[in-house]
Amino acid sequence: MDVRPIGIFDSGIGGLTVLRTLEEALPQERFLYFGDTAHMPYGPRSLAEVREFSLGIVRALIGKGSKLIVIACNTASAAALASLRDSFPRYPFVGMEPAVKPAVEHTRTGTVGVIATVATFQSELYASVVERFAKEVDVLHQPCPGLVKQIEAGEFDTPKTEAMLRGWLEPMLERNIDALVLGCTHYPIVRPLIERLVGPDVRVIDPAPAIARQVKRLLDESGLAAPPDAKGAVTYWTSGDPDAFATMMERIGMARAPVRAGSWTAGELTLP
Ligand code: DGL
Repeated sequence: MDVRPIGIFDSGIGGLTVLRTLEEALPQERFLYFGDTAHMPYGPRSLAEVREFSLGIVRALIGKGSKLIVIACNTASAAALASLRDSFPRYPFVGMEPAVKPAVEHTRTGTVGVIATVATFQSELYASVVERFAKEVDVLHQPCPGLVKQIEAGEFDTPKTEAMLRGWLEPMLERNIDALVLGCTHYPIVRPLIERLVGPDVRVIDPAPAIARQVKRLLDESGLAAPPDAKGAVTYWTSGDPDAFATMMERIGMARAPVRAGSWTAGELTLP
């Protein structure tokens, strides 16, 4: 049994979609959440730059006593998971990867869609997921530049966000996809809009529940789980405006909570 917290991070509010699934699955665990809003969006940046940010964040979260780190960002996972595992051997990391496998298992039309950031599609991690799980089906890759910023601006269901999504989703619908993978942790925030646009015949897949099961398994196997009677809690930091972050938490249906300011100085992140 281990009462230390679980570290979790994203470029902004996207990782909150993973955090809330984790809190439901593991109510006895404490979490330290960092949203790197000052550097958001990660998607248009180079993988090397996102790797540097991820390394700084992981150092800070480990410095705060995290027993395990969940990279609740597909872009950061794609950029940094392999090198973090090299830099911190034996330290437990859980990263996001696009849920291509369940989409392939679901499809009857033989064509599935994936939406994610530009950086995620450029990564070896993504190529390896497609290589492993999608030999027999067509996988359509659609980057969504600008969508993360729309979501961070609270434009969850505005005409502009709808028009952007329509432009990306319609060509995939014309090619008869029957599964759509949300390959960025921000996208579940606009899931209702996405579901309305793709209609009932396309299954929309969010990997967060699978990630929660993986975290639980890892905690149990390695003796890192908190005692069953422990009380869960979350501490939040952002490198952006803490007040704006707290407001966005409410906008996505979470309870408003205190948010602290984390600050970057010469590649070092301080979480007070
Ligand atoms: N939530 C991040 C992801 O899963 C968004 C990346 C971004 O900031 O562009 O990829």
